[in-house]
Amino acid sequence: MTTTHGFWIAGREATGETTFDVTNSYDGRLVGTVSVPTEAQVEEAVAAAHAVVDEFAATPAHVRSAALDHVAKRLAERTEELAQLISAENGKPIKWARGEIGRAVSVFRFASEEARRWNGGEVQRLDTEAGGVGRLALVRRIPKGVVLGIAPFNFPLNLAAHKVAPAIAVGAPIILKPAPATPISSLILGEILAETNLPTGSWSILPVPNDRMPALVQDERLPVISFTGSDKVGYAIQQSVPHKHCTLELGGNAAAVVLPDWSSEADLDWAAGRMAMFSNYQGGQSCISVQRVIVDGSVYDRLLPKIVAAVEAQVTGDPADDATDVGPLVDEAAAQRVESWVDEAVAAGATLLTGGKRDGATYAPTVLTDLPADVTLARCEVFGPVLTVTKVDGEAEAFAMVNDSDFGLQAGVFTHDLQAAFRAHRILEVGGVIIGDVPSYRADQMPYGGAKRSGVGREGVRYAMDDYTYERSLVMTGLAL
Ligand code: SIN
Repeated sequence: MTTTHGFWIAGREATGETTFDVTNSYDGRLVGTVSVPTEAQVEEAVAAAHAVVDEFAATPAHVRSAALDHVAKRLAERTEELAQLISAENGKPIKWARGEIGRAVSVFRFASEEARRWNGGEVQRLDTEAGGVGRLALVRRIPKGVVLGIAPFNFPLNLAAHKVAPAIAVGAPIILKPAPATPISSLILGEILAETNLPTGSWSILPVPNDRMPALVQDERLPVISFTGSDKVGYAIQQSVPHKHCTLELGGNAAAVVLPDWSSEADLDWAAGRMAMFSNYQGGQSCISVQRVIVDGSVYDRLLPKIVAAVEAQVTGDPADDATDVGPLVDEAAAQRVESWVDEAVAAGATLLTGGKRDGATYAPTVLTDLPADVTLARCEVFGPVLTVTKVDGEAEAFAMVNDSDFGLQAGVFTHDLQAAFRAHRILEVGGVIIGDVPSYRADQMPYGGAKRSGVGREGVRYAMDDYTYERSLVMTGLAL
């Protein structure tokens, strides 16, 4: 028997008039049925969020912090249940789903800690000019208003956490809209939030269908939009509401560079293992999964077979199985798209070293070389278990190739050379450079976001708190300073 999941309006559970099914993309089984809010119910949530803006901003820090701490603890207690659920609704292998819960626990814990530190403010003397004698400014950060958080399917709980936790930490009401493929984990997060004493209206979780989202995006009572998803949708949202504050976490075709000094057997084994794991984790459905491997010619011939062997060692299968590394993509259409991009590349002259096969929604871990520069796979985000390997001559060519992309989310650089690391940090047009590891490394307290078409703004708990707030100065005059 499957459960029908209600949604959350202003902290209260409710059901609508229609439902939709969430299915498992590996075996097609029904995971759960989700109730859809009516227009009137969405309006109720928006009105409640708007009404509570001042009250929530004024809620004592210890109240917000305690609520966030409670969520962290309850998520930790419910880890196994949530991991099974995420694995079922998303198709993510269970071991990666468990890892995601651990990260979401950290996000709420960080937010709880930051909530207590928040708004220490800054005092500026203004008597630096004659006109400012006897004056000073107290600068505090104030919430911009209600946040509309639009979460993706690939990390259904943790990327929702990255929207909800910082909003609560600063006292900004949030309306969370989970991805249609993976809403249930967010609805369980609602169960936990409902155990707190946050003000009514400060949070709602609404599985609104995508075709009804433009109206919500346009709603003037929701001045902040935090979106994670494709660049196409993200920029369309931003262009439709140019006066709003939009944080966009968009795609990438992340590169991992191997420089000549990364050359011992142990170095190459480590790099190959990490590349194999992180081009395939979540079926490659991460914006920072390894897509482009760029290798100096001096180590290329030794590294390439190691990459292929490590990719072939990835265990593909049932996401519910502890041994599985690579499960299905979110649905069969996604796997068909990946298949078509690989087929296009091979037809244009790319060499397929392993993989290249589809079974329903599962696409085999794939390695290609000799990729023509103008094929889709070379320019766009594959969001599937595919990596391409390219030989280059030296650091300058490698870094130029990383930058030869419309995207710039993160890059990995395998080097022991500190100067090369600093050069990479200066030159690479990305939001984060990871030295000695793949671009897929993310610690949830770090600023996370892109350059170029990878997005606007930053997540990472404290950075999202900055994003959701603005500086407001209080100038005091006539002071005996
Ligand atoms: C993303 O796909 O952008 C999120 C990656 C992560 O949080 O590890």
